[in-house]
Amino acid sequence: MTAPEQTVCGVGEALCASTDIVERGRAWVWDVLEHGRPVRAFALRFDGQLIGYLNRCVHVAAEMDWQPGEFLDTDQRWIVCSIHGATYEPANGRCVGGPCGRGRLKPVAVRELDGQVYWYPSLDIRPVPFDTAPSETLP
Ligand code: FES
Repeated sequence: MTAPEQTVCGVGEALCASTDIVERGRAWVWDVLEHGRPVRAFALRFDGQLIGYLNRCVHVAAEMDWQPGEFLDTDQRWIVCSIHGATYEPANGRCVGGPCGRGRLKPVAVRELDGQVYWYPSLDIRPVPFDTAPSETLP
């Protein structure tokens, strides 16, 4: 499996404690701006790795969670869109079934450091203004 491509600008935004995101459990969902437009992102722990994506299906630009923060199917194997069932590989966001075709979820860089989870803005995915969360710089 290939890790999602993540363009990182270097300054992380504090998201939550590492213990807040458990293996194949509920995702941490937060607000970001993509090209200045509000959208949600989510972070999951899958096979021990933190993964982050925009909460936007490839099929139709809709949020995918079937309950707040719930993205995985009942077997906790796939990310499944609640709208029409598009199915994605958690490790790389690639569509593996359903109406998402050859698409892929848009990755958001996430990382753990000293028990804290940070996300890393990119050129097109930015923090919502007036967020007063502490920051961390990549080494
Ligand atoms: S909007 Fe996600 S499968 Fe259609």
